[in-house]
Amino acid sequence: MELTVGQVAKRAEVAVSALHFYEQKGMITSWRNQGNQRRYDRSVLRRLAVIKTGQQLGLSLEEIKQALSVLPIDRAPSQEEWESMGQNWKQILNEKIRLMTKLRDELGDCIGCGCLSLNRCRLRNPEDILAQQGNGALLWKQNT
Ligand code: FES
Repeated sequence: MELTVGQVAKRAEVAVSALHFYEQKGMITSWRNQGNQRRYDRSVLRRLAVIKTGQQLGLSLEEIKQALSVLPIDRAPSQEEWESMGQNWKQILNEKIRLMTKLRDELGDCIGCGCLSLNRCRLRNPEDILAQQGNGALLWKQNT
């Protein structure tokens, strides 16, 4: 069964512009009918549900795209393919949880002063990104 862009937008509760955006990013697909109007396979609704759920969980579009990459883009996935995506998703979520837990446990160092200093605030720079880039006054070097 094929769906129009309006039907997809309504059923998935997603703006038409968002559908175009996801399509541009390769996360969903459509084809043109003889009247040059976009048509979608019904399976796009499940992909959009995955995208929305991923966003609610705080995943980036790239992470959601990575999770979706194991599903066929133009037909309903098999049970095996869903399970594969679930494993993929689980790995992404486990890594997020690890990072969030680390951040929470290290927040004792942050005095919560509101400075959000890149040099000393673990809230702003949880992985100490600057330290990984080398020694010295990196921000000063970048800005000069
Ligand atoms: S907000 Fe100032 S150290 Fe974190």
